Amino acid sequence: MLIVLHLALMIAAVISFTAGVGIAMFARKKKNWLKLHKAINTSGVIIGLAGAAMAFANVLTSAGNHLSGLHHRVGFIAIILFCITLYLGFYSFKAANKTAVRTTHRWSGRFSLIAMLAALIMGLKMIGVL
Ligand code: HEM
Ligand code: HEM
Repeated sequence: MLIVLHLALMIAAVISFTAGVGIAMFARKKKNWLKLHKAINTSGVIIGLAGAAMAFANVLTSAGNHLSGLHHRVGFIAIILFCITLYLGFYSFKAANKTAVRTTHRWSGRFSLIAMLAALIMGLKMIGVL
């Protein structure tokens, strides 16, 4: 049951990040792009953290070892990256060196989406969907 919640929440998080990053990349001419980018990606982070908690709980209840496989490790990296990206997104409005923070945010954001997609593919392979 926990793993079904993990699967559903992670798919929802991937959809949010794809939409949020897509807006920042392709819909920058719209005047509300930043509002949308911020709201959708912040929701993605919350959903993703809930999904990560379900995976963690599943490992606990099945008496397995944490971060035991490649999916688990790539997934963990994705979670760290999207947390850093979220922080940098908000911090970029206050920082003295806004340009550097934004450039880092852009790259950590791109890498977090790539890591999420890789974890998704590996997760779906683990359950035999792919
Ligand atoms: C897309 C983003 C995903 C991320 C970031 C992610 C992340 C993680 C992490 C960090 C763990 C390790 C938990 C721990 O060691 O405490 C894990 C475990 C696991 N994930 Fe994912 N996951 C994702 C998608 C999926 C999908 C789509 C499936 C398919 C059902 C899946 C199936 C599993 C399974 C079976 C485990 C092992 C649970 C266990 O050993 O009890 N994951 N995932
Ligand atoms: C984990 C969540 C987030 C991800 C994955 C993410 C990802 C990205 C990516 C990939 C870009 C660059 C798009 C491109 O031009 O190629 C971007 C731009 C940007 N994001 Fe985010 N973002 C996230 C959350 C946020 C939040 C919460 C804020 C604001 C509080 C924010 C503010 C910005 C700004 C201002 C830019 C433009 C930067 C520039 O052009 O220099 N982002 N984001």
